Amino acid sequence: MRILGIETSCDETSVAVVEDGRHVLSNIIASQVRVHARFGGVVPEVASRAHLQRLLPMVDDCLARTGMTLADVDALAVTRGPGLVGALLVGVETAKALAWAAGKPLIPVHHIAAHLYSPFLFGDPAAFRTIVIGEHAADDVEHAGEAAGAPADATPPPPLRHPYVGLVVSGGHTSLVRVDGPLDCTVLSETADDAAGEAFDKVAKLLDLGYPGGPVVEATARGGDPARFALPRPMLAGDNMDFSFSGLKTAVMKVVRDTGADALRADARLLSDLCASFQEAVAETLLRKARIALRACGSRQLAVVGGVACNGRLRDAVAAYLPGVEVVFPPPVFCTDNASMIAGLAWHHAMRGDAAGADLALNAEADLPIR
Ligand code: KG4
Ligand code: ZN
Repeated sequence: MRILGIETSCDETSVAVVEDGRHVLSNIIASQVRVHARFGGVVPEVASRAHLQRLLPMVDDCLARTGMTLADVDALAVTRGPGLVGALLVGVETAKALAWAAGKPLIPVHHIAAHLYSPFLFGDPAAFRTIVIGEHAADDVEHAGEAAGAPADATPPPPLRHPYVGLVVSGGHTSLVRVDGPLDCTVLSETADDAAGEAFDKVAKLLDLGYPGGPVVEATARGGDPARFALPRPMLAGDNMDFSFSGLKTAVMKVVRDTGADALRADARLLSDLCASFQEAVAETLLRKARIALRACGSRQLAVVGGVACNGRLRDAVAAYLPGVEVVFPPPVFCTDNASMIAGLAWHHAMRGDAAGADLALNAEADLPIR
């Protein structure tokens, strides 16, 4: 069964065709990071407009790359929420129109449940294409295959065993989730304030490093001393699984104030040490909390999903903070927002009998509890 997926919840427009829930035949992402960079964060109206401009040609392109037309797909799937409502609406309305026109079922998918499903996906590196869009089409920069963050080989990863614990770390979400099945997720804890990715973005802004924060903070931290600054590990006492990152951000702000922004910018060593110290505090907090969740669920398998799962130090820190635990990080292209995870999870909805038709009353939901 081949499902065409559409994802437009934030600042990545993505279209994919996935076979039988796992095998990615084509995945195209148009990333808007450069468009939002000059504002220092995602501007919802700008995001919606870019989705609108890019989505339909991407659907054509994605289908053409698999040698298919809309008539050949068995169903369509779309992110229904959570996310930016204007951005979501572009995907939802487009998917409804396409499904109606082609007479295909339309399957609405929960964005976070799809992130939690992302470790099951695989595909030939040649099936992946990422376009970092500019203000004009002539400014687009294209990456294909492994340069687009795709898996290094096309073999299916061994599936995780249920229940596993999912650590969702993205720009909008930080939570620990017990996953009893692809469509059976229970949230164990969430962040009380900032998401982990948001903390990276805010710290990058404080240090004038640019946007998005995660990749620049990671690059600046390279070679830095993570023990130079004693930054807080919030809420680590006891068996508490909740997160809070705003205190950590304030601690970084205090270092900037005490040192002086100009002095900090002029001292590459100091800047690198500060980024390394911040990154270490985030990695240690996330993984120690995950350990508590694993114990509570009686599981020895952790899947780390969402954009922050791209972080190299978080990946390496597993050896120090979670020895003996099997930790799965999907390839980067499946960590950041992508339509393969939407089309993949939709297959499980279809198998459950949720693909009866196209509900033309379907609406986007900015806040959507996981189910
Ligand atoms: O999952 P995602 O693409 O979008 C949301 O659904 O939010 O995550 C984006 C977030 C941003 O906050 C970005 O700074 C962060 O993921 N991120 C990283 C890295 N790459 C992206 N954070 C830390 N290290 C990275 N290498
Ligand atoms: Zn996401």
